[in-house]
Amino acid sequence: MYAINFHRDKFNILYTHKKITNKSLIFEVQHIIGSGNYGIVNKIVNFITKKEFAMKKMEKYNYTNRNEVVVYDSFTKILNYHKYIPKIYYIINDDDYYYIIMEYFEYGSLNKFYKDDINPYNLLLIVKKLIEIIQFIHNQGLIINDLKLENIVLGKNFKIRIIDYGHVSAFNDRLQLTTGSPLYLAPEIFKRIISNEKKDIWALGISLYEFITLIHPLENIVIYDPESNTKNKKDIIFCHQKFLENFTNIKNNINFILDYKLSLHNLKILKLIINIILKCMQYNYKERTSVDNLINFLNEHTNQFQQSVNHH
Ligand SMILES: Nc1ncnc2c1ncn2[C@@H]1O[C@H](COP(=O)(O)OP(=O)(O)OP(=O)(O)O)[C@@H](O)[C@H]1O
Ligand SMILES: [Mg+2]
Repeated sequence: MYAINFHRDKFNILYTHKKITNKSLIFEVQHIIGSGNYGIVNKIVNFITKKEFAMKKMEKYNYTNRNEVVVYDSFTKILNYHKYIPKIYYIINDDDYYYIIMEYFEYGSLNKFYKDDINPYNLLLIVKKLIEIIQFIHNQGLIINDLKLENIVLGKNFKIRIIDYGHVSAFNDRLQLTTGSPLYLAPEIFKRIISNEKKDIWALGISLYEFITLIHPLENIVIYDPESNTKNKKDIIFCHQKFLENFTNIKNNINFILDYKLSLHNLKILKLIINIILKCMQYNYKERTSVDNLINFLNEHTNQFQQSVNHH
């Protein structure tokens, strides 16, 4: 544990959510809550107010990191953006690093969250919110490109947000063909076909499938190229034929895993969610559902569950 004082001369404040005072930028840096290829995320606590934040510290001289700063900064310009995107408090830099100080999500990423702690009503709430967040981002003309369970975080009262915006691109930008995590990449990307927002829809389907079954649906379908001996990310292949042949199995698995332990009432909600997942996992991106369709579908079918819909 150590303290960091952003008032010192070497730091430069690029964005602040409100006017800063002399003492407001001193934090106690607590444990690491995550680290990836591009940065380290620590929980930090303001010395004066004791308010908790997450701080993502990233090297400056890297495209993805600079991109994330630009994207978060642009989100902060949109009214009420924090209903969809983690609230950003400060963006700071020094000679070598960016520091993004944002809202802290107590339960961390969904890949580490035990989903049986969530009842189906709240699960539906999470799915609905994720769809609305993706719609918000697509409405800005942006594609997330790296949606996966690790990049979905959960806070108190089932507050859910997508994090990690370093791979964001504009629609039609060819960058979307080279970014993302192999197991969440849509099949058309492996054929170097740009599908824009449909790439995120596919990744949403895979993420939700994995979240509720604890099994990744494409384990034997996205594989390392047997011809390659480098085991590089670029040597990952999508077995198109195998996916198409096995889709019925993939469908049956999700039903099988859920069927036997649920009461009928819960089953109704889960069937709805399974339906959404399978719409997202449509192989042909032209036929794949869109966020607008999903929202209509949810509105049509969730009236009966209205009691559960209270937003964060
Ligand atoms: N605001 C937050 N609240 C709680 N946990 C967070 C927060 N931001 C990040 N984390 C945790 O830290 C992990 C890493 O953060 P993030 O995904 O932003 O960086 P990264 O994975 O290093 O970036 P990249 O995927 O670009 O390599 C996340 O998976 C999540 O578990
Ligand atoms: Mg990440």
